[in-house]
Amino acid sequence: MMIIRNKEDIPSSEITEEKVYLDRRAFFKKAASLGLIVPGMAAKLVQASGIFGLFPPLKPAAMPHDPLTSFHDITHYNNFYEFGTNKSDPSKYSGALSTNPWQVKIDGLVRRPGVYSVNDLIHKYPQQDRVYRLRCVEAWSMVIPWSGFPLGSLLKQADPLGHAHFVEFWTLYDPKQMPGQRVPVLDWPYREGLRLDEAMHPLTILATGLYGKPLPNQDGAPIRLVVPWKYGFKSIKSIVRIRLVEHMPQTSWQMAAPDEYGFYSNVNPKVNHPRWSQATERRIGEWGLRRTLLFNGYANQVGSLYSGMNLRKNF
Ligand code: MTE
Repeated sequence: MMIIRNKEDIPSSEITEEKVYLDRRAFFKKAASLGLIVPGMAAKLVQASGIFGLFPPLKPAAMPHDPLTSFHDITHYNNFYEFGTNKSDPSKYSGALSTNPWQVKIDGLVRRPGVYSVNDLIHKYPQQDRVYRLRCVEAWSMVIPWSGFPLGSLLKQADPLGHAHFVEFWTLYDPKQMPGQRVPVLDWPYREGLRLDEAMHPLTILATGLYGKPLPNQDGAPIRLVVPWKYGFKSIKSIVRIRLVEHMPQTSWQMAAPDEYGFYSNVNPKVNHPRWSQATERRIGEWGLRRTLLFNGYANQVGSLYSGMNLRKNF
């Protein structure tokens, strides 16, 4: 599989000209030395300066041929609170997690509940390569070459009952292997949820690998969810249980801070997090900021799932 793109393949339109970059740096350095910039203001200044013609407007988060984030960044800048809350903790502390054999239970409102080994799932469902943008609620993003299979294939096999409207996901609970679970930063085990139609959408995958290799532990081995139009925290890692239910389930982040994390958590530049803007994002490995796109740039594919819904209310 040839997915690693050479530097030469990156269109020059995507590379900030050196002079523009240096001018921008000098501007911010000067402003900071005069005490004009406080943390969090940079994004606003870049946007405003674009309006006044000082700098070119920010480029959008999705451009054709966006370079992939490096394997090193994807595997060393992680959120996986079961191994600590610093970005570098998961790569340092997840190595001892035993991921083979690993079983995933699917139960609840289905005609065919079951327990599957991840190895069987990998053989049963042809693995597909999907390059997706992952946009974290903390306003950074990456471009990741996943491999996996549509969650919908597994759900169809389980055959949901007519009154199954939501899907609930659980991460492994094992404080011996996951030291972060010894600290009550979240209500463990990590739990997430999707509406059934979101779960069945062909863009929603269960990922088992990245960059053509099995999923590294810090990225959610051996099997994790990836929902590319939602904030990264919906993409729950190291899944052991998938349950179909009638009512909207509680999720770990909603339980922790209901005003800050809604059930839907669709990427939306117009709906800010109560403590920071969601209008821009920092692509890991790049300088500067990009303009965040509605549904993380996947609006054409998923917008119809939310037609008629108030996205500010259903954040
Ligand atoms: N899943 C579990 N079990 N625990 C976590 O802490 N963090 C979430 C999500 N899935 C998290 C999780 C968040 S906040 C993000 S942004 C993504 O994983 C990060 O995925 P990555 O580290 O592979 O980039």
